[in-house]
Amino acid sequence: MAYKNLREWIGRLESEGELSRVKTEVDWDEEIGAITRKVYCKRGPALLFENIKDHKDTISTKLFTGGLQTISRLAMMLGMPKEAHIKDVTERVRQCFKNPMDVKQVKTGPVKENVITGADVDLYQFPVPKWHYLDGGRYINTFCGVVTKDPETGITNVGLYRGMILSKNKIGVLLVPGQGWGIHYLKYQELKKPMPVAIVYGYDDALVFSAAASLPRDLDEYRVTGALRGEPVELVKCETVDLEVPAEAEIVVEGYISPNPDDWEMEGPFGEYTGYYGESAKRPVIEVSCITHRNEPIFRGTLEGMDHNNPNEDSSILVVSLSAIAKNILESQGVPGVLEVSAVPITFVKIKKLFRGHAKQVAAALWGSSAAQYLFKFVIVVEEDTNIWNRRAVEGALSYRVNAAEDDIVFFPGTFGSVLDPSTRIKDRDEMRFGTGKWTRILIDATRNWDYEKVPEWGGQVYPPSATALSEEQEELVNRRWREYGID
Ligand SMILES: Cc1cc2nc3c(=O)[nH]c(=O)nc-3n(C[C@H](O)[C@H](O)[C@H](O)COP(=O)(O)O)c2cc1C
Repeated sequence: MAYKNLREWIGRLESEGELSRVKTEVDWDEEIGAITRKVYCKRGPALLFENIKDHKDTISTKLFTGGLQTISRLAMMLGMPKEAHIKDVTERVRQCFKNPMDVKQVKTGPVKENVITGADVDLYQFPVPKWHYLDGGRYINTFCGVVTKDPETGITNVGLYRGMILSKNKIGVLLVPGQGWGIHYLKYQELKKPMPVAIVYGYDDALVFSAAASLPRDLDEYRVTGALRGEPVELVKCETVDLEVPAEAEIVVEGYISPNPDDWEMEGPFGEYTGYYGESAKRPVIEVSCITHRNEPIFRGTLEGMDHNNPNEDSSILVVSLSAIAKNILESQGVPGVLEVSAVPITFVKIKKLFRGHAKQVAAALWGSSAAQYLFKFVIVVEEDTNIWNRRAVEGALSYRVNAAEDDIVFFPGTFGSVLDPSTRIKDRDEMRFGTGKWTRILIDATRNWDYEKVPEWGGQVYPPSATALSEEQEELVNRRWREYGID
């Protein structure tokens, strides 16, 4: 369902009782982050902070967060019933990812109501929080679309990449060369030219949902956003860079990243998606050339970092989008028999096993994809009688269908992987030296082993029959006589 802009989406959340306006004065310096963490842990409402210290008279005075923190709000974003099951939401998203919608170019829009260039650029005009107590500064890029264009193919990429305010016109960023914009940056470095960048804050939340999804490299996230909305994204040209941004956006920051490592500056630490801090390092910098914004713009951000007992906004988004992407990868690679996938943080794949080595084909297809940059460290493959959404069911499969002595556990060492995983040594995840992190991936094949002996008394099968399933005869008898037993 298309929300014209962030304001319409906030209005819908409010009318559904899914929004709290915080009118008491709060501090951007850690207090907003602390309140947001408490609200996330309670699966509470989305938040609109309307009274922020030091931001009474700035260009933007309001911060919105948590719009997609629950599966029911994600369902609302897609125009589905609030009660929709995560499986149905994921399937809907999966279909949208396969059927992108063309964008619409328009001449102008509300995002051009104000245009600021040169010495007037001041990022401190926006109520950007210092989200976590050890963060290196105020993180402006936490829930935004970072737009770049491939200088060879002209294909646009919109990703979500963190960014910290360094000064009134500079943002330090974590730019991983294996990511969408990282591949563009390497090309600009070869050309010895600065890379143009535009950052979009506040639009239909479907844009950031798409930006945070590890979609195939040739897929333009604006087209995916259109599919999720059910209406094309309307784009206008930027002022100082050759890029396009949504006409209805609240705020757009335009700028360039120098190709020269001498221009990099210290960025970090930052409370990361893993639930731990990512360390500081000298990293690329966006030098801001222009800011355009609506009148009275609302800033959009989110509190990164998963509390492992409670979902945050990112983890709710990612469990849906990445599960959909994983299933699409398996489908496009021709892996048969895939029934369900849940991808985050551990990847569970439910299959109808059709041949020996089927689970290994699943893992190989996932591990070779571009989405594997931050994903698929652990892949667990089960059969159709295991409910991947139920921990006890998965534990049952791991306990009684896996034998490490029988090659059911496979290690794939020395592969690429997350630069933010603290279980990898810091020296092995220097993104600017290696372009990526370093993972040993693991497949656990929790399907029945077809190499075992066939046992006549098990009907010639290699695995014993289930002792908890009832025989057809008893199922029918007990069902028929149930009322007679007087049990309920
Ligand atoms: C809140 C949030 C912050 C993120 N920050 C970064 C980041 O700083 N660097 C990065 O490489 N990926 C980051 N990611 C993951 C990327 O958004 C994700 O891998 C996405 O697929 C990137 O788009 P791309 O595949 O077009 O590169 C972040 C994700 C979320 C949800």
